[in-house]
Amino acid sequence: MDLELRGKTAIITGGSKGIGRAAALRFVEEGASVLICARGRDALAEAVAAARNAAQGARIFTSEADLTRPEEIRRVVDEAVRAMGRIDILVNNAGSARPGEFLKIPDEDWRLDFDLKFFGYVRMAREVMPHMARERNGVVVNVIGTGGLRPSAGYMVGGAANAALNHFTKALADEGSRHGVRVVGINPGPILTERLRLFTERSARGRNPDEVYARMTPLGRPGKPEEVADLIAFLSSPRAAFIHGANITIDGGANPGLIG
Ligand SMILES: NC(=O)c1ccc[n+]([C@@H]2O[C@H](COP(=O)([O-])OP(=O)(O)OC[C@H]3O[C@@H](n4cnc5c(N)ncnc54)[C@H](OP(=O)(O)O)[C@@H]3O)[C@@H](O)[C@H]2O)c1
Repeated sequence: MDLELRGKTAIITGGSKGIGRAAALRFVEEGASVLICARGRDALAEAVAAARNAAQGARIFTSEADLTRPEEIRRVVDEAVRAMGRIDILVNNAGSARPGEFLKIPDEDWRLDFDLKFFGYVRMAREVMPHMARERNGVVVNVIGTGGLRPSAGYMVGGAANAALNHFTKALADEGSRHGVRVVGINPGPILTERLRLFTERSARGRNPDEVYARMTPLGRPGKPEEVADLIAFLSSPRAAFIHGANITIDGGANPGLIG
């Protein structure tokens, strides 16, 4: 199936590692131009090299930015418009939230994690949407997480940010309808990125990490970043033109509930 992404332009936040990096590679393979942003210069350079390896003549741009800062978000969007001319697709993906015990998480940690994982998505969408509205064309894909569907004491900050993002995604779709902008959310379960690997090894406490991975989902394994990237590419594409205001779970069956 041709995803018809050739010639499209995309910003992928956190596109230097994990799910974002896999999505960036997928997009350039499909002939789209991408701008990836993250804080670390070396990982950005590595992702560019990987993209050029994956697709000859790949059009990939980078922007070093800390997305907890509103002024850096504005700069990223300006750089994307200058580099690519317009923005057809925004993949809000850069995020992480610390697990931990409720009584030991101070305000400052709640604020920092929300600044990235919630306000980073909100601010980026608010900067990009006017560009999309002018063209009456655009797609916003929010990469959220199943932590928002399954409240737990040990992942309260990330879970609360994700729950808020599921709401924001549907509300933004309502707004986007007026401007020709499609909005979708993705709720990944455990996906084997560097972040999950480090977290699993740290918390394995003497157990073989492979045994921990095997128990993460009914399919007996965590997901691969490329599997989420394929879903992002499809949802960003004209092939998904009727999917709007939906939050879609990709978790190997880990969430047993009716919602998600
Ligand atoms: N992996 C999972 O199991 C899983 C499950 C559910 C949801 N998710 C969600 O999926 C998204 C991607 O996760 P991942 O596992 O692929 O993460 P990852 O491998 O840790 O990559 C995170 C990316 O975001 C960038 N980033 C982090 N903080 C940033 C900041 N302040 N400003 C700009 N960029 C920043 C990182 O680069 P720098 O560090 O260099 O800035 C990196 O490019 C996240 O929103 C995560 O919450 C992941």
